[in-house]
Amino acid sequence: MPKAPPLRLGVNVDHVATLRNARAGDRPDPVRAALLAIEAGADGITAHLREDRRHISDEDMARLKARISKPLNFEMAATADMLAIALRTKPHAVCLVPERREELTTEGGLDVAGQHNTLAPFIARLNDNGVRVSLFIAADPAQIEMAAKLRAPVIEIHTGAWCDAVVDGDRAKAGVEWQRIVAGATLARAAGLEVHAGHGLDYVTAEAIAALPEIVELNIGYYMIGEALFVGLAQTVRTMRAAMDRGRAKLENDA
Ligand code: PXP
Repeated sequence: MPKAPPLRLGVNVDHVATLRNARAGDRPDPVRAALLAIEAGADGITAHLREDRRHISDEDMARLKARISKPLNFEMAATADMLAIALRTKPHAVCLVPERREELTTEGGLDVAGQHNTLAPFIARLNDNGVRVSLFIAADPAQIEMAAKLRAPVIEIHTGAWCDAVVDGDRAKAGVEWQRIVAGATLARAAGLEVHAGHGLDYVTAEAIAALPEIVELNIGYYMIGEALFVGLAQTVRTMRAAMDRGRAKLENDA
């Protein structure tokens, strides 16, 4: 079996901004968190500019792009306003996500199969401007096939349902969701897509999913920022990195 490609860790700093915004001041600064995460071993930084600006601000995005030395992954809804900001910011990548104002977090994947006509010109504009497009979708064959047709180079598989089932101890549901992720990652890779994964990952689920060779990037935020309160962000990044490396090593040992 060929050696598995390296697995990158993208650290999502949204919830540093959530904490900052609780007092409407400048601290804690998500850019400082991004710099520290990179120093501790993160391969990239992810931030979601939501339409309601509940955490990351326009200025945060511009400062992240200007200050960090690793790729910036700009998560956003597929709207005209966001497209204009992304084209100005020129991040390494844009991850298109569905967004509902009343949701607590990004609850489901983007319905690319149902929004083909809206998304096609959107993705083309980003591709033409040298921004790598990633589509945040459920591991569903119809969505994956449409992502490939839309010429998005990357998909990010929504791992939320699987992670919730693992945390809840619902083994049957976790098993079903896991099989969906495995099949989706295989299908996507066969269709020529680069495969990322994210949402709800912790040390345990990140270690497990690291054993899928098709997946080359994990984007993780909420759990890591929570852990950082207790052990510090640098230690959290190192522990996450070690969990991912253990998962990847298992794959190579099993080969
Ligand atoms: N990937 C995408 C596309 C997301 O929307 C989010 C949440 O902002 C994440 C990854 C990170 O999820 P979590 O914060 O649950 O680790």
